[in-house]
Amino acid sequence: MTPVIARTREELASARAEITGTLALVPTMGALHEGHLSLIRRAGELADAVAVSIFVNPLQFGPHEDLDRYPRTFEADVAACAAEGVDLIWAPTVEEMYPAQPQVRLSAGRMGTVVEGASRPGHFDGVLTVVMKLFNQVRPDVAVFGAKDAQQLALIRRMVADLDVPVRIEAGPTVREADGLALSSRNRYLSPEERRTALALSRALRAGEQAAGEGPAAILHAARAVLAEAEQADPPLVPDYLELVDPATFEPVGESHAGEAVLVVAAKVGTTRLIDNVPLTLE
Ligand code: PAJ
Repeated sequence: MTPVIARTREELASARAEITGTLALVPTMGALHEGHLSLIRRAGELADAVAVSIFVNPLQFGPHEDLDRYPRTFEADVAACAAEGVDLIWAPTVEEMYPAQPQVRLSAGRMGTVVEGASRPGHFDGVLTVVMKLFNQVRPDVAVFGAKDAQQLALIRRMVADLDVPVRIEAGPTVREADGLALSSRNRYLSPEERRTALALSRALRAGEQAAGEGPAAILHAARAVLAEAEQADPPLVPDYLELVDPATFEPVGESHAGEAVLVVAAKVGTTRLIDNVPLTLE
């Protein structure tokens, strides 16, 4: 069955009115890969109908980021959604989503300014603003996000709690290639040599994971050693951050921290910026 494709608010309204049972939404920026598809399958388990939004959101890109070269593969995305039995694709144009520059926007607060937010000022404000608009437009019962973007997921959970947004948030685990590289729409920018260097991200996380029993300093030390080696590779890895943070706040955990933590990493290889993370339990 081919999904209904809505490109205007009117088309969305009439398609939405046809859906009588519960609805799960998977927000995406398109260039769909197996990571997205795993969330779509999860959404299918959670509700009677599944909607996927495809919208490259200018509000969450900085002035020197990759908005213009972000991959756009709409035809293939529609085919992938059809194969997964998606009911509705919401794919507005930028003009449809933002008829005027939005004056009223959401602020991600302190959590929006640390770790990934420190490297990408305003990014999470733009994410939360568009996700709130998508929720209001599609009115899903449940929305599914990936653990790959751990800080985004934590902030969306926080937005829903802080603003009493009537949507349940569910998460899907990070989908990886066999060699550990986390799937990302940006992986297609990598040359074979860059891709080899990029494997250091997931390798560093695994090294940190293996040191989990020895505490935060040992975890960071083990992960940092892998990144340091990749900085000498050709082409080199250029690390942005490596931190062990509290999953609810994204503040760094202290040496005496026990319980859940997330080891997060970001780095550039060539012109491509990649992020990855792994959840850890500290004793
Ligand atoms: P995008 O990068 O397209 O990701 C859409 C969803 O897929 C997010 O929830 C993301 O965490 C998830 N995802 C990406 N790679 C994944 C992987 N390897 N394994 C599991 N899930 C993965 O994230 C965004 O778009 C945007 O910020 C958005 C929320 C749509 C707002 O514009």
